[in-house]
Amino acid sequence: MSERITVSLGERSYDILVGAGLVTEAGKLLAPLARGPMPVVTDANVAKLHLTALLEVLKQARLDARPIVLEPGEGTKSFRGLEMLCTELLAAGVDRGGLVVAFGGGVIGDLTGFAAGILKRGIDFAQIPTTLLAQVDSSVGGKTAINTVEGKNLVGVFHQPKIVLVDTGVLSTLPRRELLAGYAEVAKYGALGDAAFFAWLEANGAKALAGDADAIVDAVAHSCRMKADIVARDEREAGERALLNLGHTFGHALEAATGYSDRLLHGEGVALGMALAFRLSVKLGLCPGQDAERFTRHLKAVGLPVEIVDIPGPRPTVGALLEHMAHDKKVKDGKLTFVLVRGIGQAFVTSDIPREAVREVLEK
Ligand SMILES: NC(=O)c1ccc[n+]([C@@H]2O[C@H](COP(=O)([O-])OP(=O)(O)OC[C@H]3O[C@@H](n4cnc5c(N)ncnc54)[C@H](O)[C@@H]3O)[C@@H](O)[C@H]2O)c1
Ligand SMILES: [Zn+2]
Repeated sequence: MSERITVSLGERSYDILVGAGLVTEAGKLLAPLARGPMPVVTDANVAKLHLTALLEVLKQARLDARPIVLEPGEGTKSFRGLEMLCTELLAAGVDRGGLVVAFGGGVIGDLTGFAAGILKRGIDFAQIPTTLLAQVDSSVGGKTAINTVEGKNLVGVFHQPKIVLVDTGVLSTLPRRELLAGYAEVAKYGALGDAAFFAWLEANGAKALAGDADAIVDAVAHSCRMKADIVARDEREAGERALLNLGHTFGHALEAATGYSDRLLHGEGVALGMALAFRLSVKLGLCPGQDAERFTRHLKAVGLPVEIVDIPGPRPTVGALLEHMAHDKKVKDGKLTFVLVRGIGQAFVTSDIPREAVREVLEK
């Protein structure tokens, strides 16, 4: 049994299917979309654990799968990684009318989506996300990108996939820390627009993280549905889609200040960033203190960082964090744009936040 969610974007509409063990149906589901050789792009970690099973079902469906295995890690999302992947895709002989499959976390999804978007002026692609973060966030919505020395995700295109196959079963091999980092984005959906979902997470989140099959399918499907609805209303982030950046202005600054290192995963930065966004909202008199405490308590209970001191190693300075925020690509006319909250489930975007209030929240 799988859940089907449609991302409604006119002729670019597509379905997200969510289920435990869905990879076993990948052949049947991808066959109608593919013609000719079908590159399957993955990284070495995912390849070791899950590639054989996927290739087997594709073979059974008589698909001409051509595995391309890249080095794991954010470094692969680079011009060099892009060039290498394009070379491999061309060598595999993929053509317009063909299908490229991204089988991995957000790194593989973002890079493969971008390569598919520009190769031969655009080739169809499918996402089979294998991290919780990729399943609830990066595989949905069509943003693709690589990083440059100037910053993360600065070069990319919007290129929507043809289908997203989310198999929650593959999460059983994901390291706990990566799982939790993805959970931060799950909790984000509750915080930004769905108090009832947040309450559900308080009751069932730990169960989902412990591997309960029904709970994790429900959590992932609900998250995808929320993102799909937001993307359908605002594909290019002219407005509402910006709500998905809750916790990300602080989070990106913390990631930058810790050198995008192993000290702080993206989702951990988002968890901490959301806790800070709640505190800033309370400080500005916008949000009841209880909501901030309740939200933070849940993140902490599952094991996510909620205080800057939770980051191992030297503490990032307030000055450095403010400096990073000033360089965020979401800065307009020198003003800091933040997603703040009026309570759990009630986020909004605002762009004239006094720097002093931000400083005080960071100093605390
Ligand atoms: N396009 C978007 O809208 C969007 C949204 C959010 C994040 N992102 C991007 O996503 C990236 C982060 O994605 P991520 O957190 O998935 O990182 P990732 O792709 O680096 O995966 C994390 C680690 O988990 C391993 N892994 C993946 N699946 C596994 C599995 N099933 N079992 C065991 N190990 C597995 C990977 O090899 C890697 O070491 C960032 O580059 C970020 O910018 C994009
Ligand atoms: Zn994020």
